[in-house]
Amino acid sequence: MDDGTRYGDGTRCVHGGHGDPEPGAPLAPGPVFAAPYHLGEPAADFYGRAGNPTWRALESAIGELDGGECVLLPSGMAAISTVLRAVLRAGDGLLVPSDGYYATRQFVHEELAELSLHVQEIPTTGPWPPELFDGVRLVLLETPSNPGLDVCDIAALARLAHRAGALLAVDNTTATPLGQRPLELGADLAIASDTKALTGHSDVLLGHVSTADAELAARLRRARTLSGSIPGPFETWLAHRSLGTLDLRLARQASNAAALVAALRGHPAVTGLRWPGLPDDPAHELASAQMRRWGGVFRFELADADAVAEFVRRSELVVAATSFGGLHSTVDRRAQWGDPVAPGFVRFSAGCEDPDDLVADVLAALS
Ligand SMILES: Cc1ncc(COP(=O)(O)O)c(C=O)c1O
Repeated sequence: MDDGTRYGDGTRCVHGGHGDPEPGAPLAPGPVFAAPYHLGEPAADFYGRAGNPTWRALESAIGELDGGECVLLPSGMAAISTVLRAVLRAGDGLLVPSDGYYATRQFVHEELAELSLHVQEIPTTGPWPPELFDGVRLVLLETPSNPGLDVCDIAALARLAHRAGALLAVDNTTATPLGQRPLELGADLAIASDTKALTGHSDVLLGHVSTADAELAARLRRARTLSGSIPGPFETWLAHRSLGTLDLRLARQASNAAALVAALRGHPAVTGLRWPGLPDDPAHELASAQMRRWGGVFRFELADADAVAEFVRRSELVVAATSFGGLHSTVDRRAQWGDPVAPGFVRFSAGCEDPDDLVADVLAALS
């Protein structure tokens, strides 16, 4: 629809991937369910594992937001694992975050063990000396990291990676394509779990990879076709429907997060409060330089696991759930999943409720 600069976020979310108006055609077409297609010339599609118009519509919308070619996959982990399998060969060097989404590390160690990779796990805040990149084939960053919300300098690390002949991929799940455009900052691949804010209704699993490198995109599409790791048309259609409100949802989530963080600052039960949007957050300066807008996820600590359970029990609006970016405000006590954090560490995902209701509920639940 545009080059990424002509229209604002809301317009691009509403119109992305919808094509030109056609008299008599539905304004918002439904999903195309197809295994085989009629063969003949000209035909864009022949078999549902290789191509689907509903995928292409959403890929066009997300690709435009990311500034690259988008390849949809059935979950965030499918996106991450497809990239790792497509790029890495036996004995390659790989840098992954030590403080990012835990299943990525698990996948590398358990499912890619036969590749005998040289894996280095580095905290998002580094240090990142140039020697680290020697012999590395792929650098995977996650910024802001989940759950710690630390940030690293994508452009600087892309330069270091490229100097060493490595590709740089960024897990952009927490930021979303509206919050950050890793490809513009020099990344080769932007990866995301669209299960989170991009779809945002807690009813779909989906993921994607975007790249400005046409060969890499073709390789990823081929990997998808041959592995059979394909998104369902209905999920894809639901995601496209949800994308239309991403700008609105993110704006409400971010303003709710700001209101909650302001209310929790200095609260006697709360320590370790972090949100990149807070001016005195350690990540704020760098995040402001490379991000386009804030999201609704912040973190803090309560005394222990029991204190978190009590908080959830007392709250009327906040529920415990292990995801983020949805309409509903949720908390997740990350130590239960093995993240290297304190037992009372909470990742809070601000939803789209009314800010006054949410702040009052959270303060009452903590009192
Ligand atoms: C940062 C990040 N990357 C990837 C994933 C995996 O996504 P999915 O659950 O859609 O496979 C998650 C899921 O929580 C995540 O938080």
